[in-house]
Amino acid sequence: MTTIRRFCCDDLLRFSSVNLDHLTETFNMSFYMTYLARWPDYFHVAEAPGNRVMGYIMGKVEGQGESWHGHVTAVTVAPEFRRQQLAKKLMNLLEDISDKIDKAYFVDLFVRASNTPAIKMYEKLDYVIYRRVLRYYSGEEDGLDMRKALSRDVEKKSIIPLKRPVTPDELEYD
Ligand SMILES: CC(C)(COP(=O)(O)OP(=O)(O)OC[C@H]1O[C@@H](n2cnc3c(N)ncnc32)[C@H](O)[C@@H]1OP(=O)(O)O)[C@@H](O)C(=O)NCCC(=O)NCCS
Repeated sequence: MTTIRRFCCDDLLRFSSVNLDHLTETFNMSFYMTYLARWPDYFHVAEAPGNRVMGYIMGKVEGQGESWHGHVTAVTVAPEFRRQQLAKKLMNLLEDISDKIDKAYFVDLFVRASNTPAIKMYEKLDYVIYRRVLRYYSGEEDGLDMRKALSRDVEKKSIIPLKRPVTPDELEYD
């Protein structure tokens, strides 16, 4: 049985096994605490019986005017729990909060251009590549900025792909 609930401070001391994955970014404590304090609705953990951390999602909502959007900062599922639709459930939860509670126009995220499994998952969830961000990761690897329009963006303007790649200093939000 899987329980999905809000992430809390104590979870920061016991989620490290999930973060051993090389594609999962690890941030400093104050970064996670800021998310917990400012966007608690956007931070959820999935647990298996015995309180084992299966995965989590962390995000935020930000922007001005038609750029008001939900953002997925991290989503990860431990290898032994993958391909059970868990990331999909966590993503759907964040999308619902962005759409129904915060009335955002779209949800976006950045993914390494080489992270094919994650890109395939986002495409399955109807995200499109909005733009490529050159050398976004540590000044080396390109990132893909992927977006999904929400119900408020009736004309789906937010997901019209840019015709050229951008550099990190051109990003409005990171
Ligand atoms: C990407 C990740 C979060 C997917 O988690 P998951 O719980 O296994 O994903 P789901 O089971 O919800 O997958 C939903 C759909 O996405 C697609 N998908 C997921 N993983 C995939 C893979 N490895 N290869 C191809 N398609 C994949 C499939 O269409 C899948 O549906 P299906 O299993 O019915 O075919 C997980 O592999 C992970 O934690 N990776 C390391 C961290 C990471 O890369 N995070 C994203 C950083 S931007």
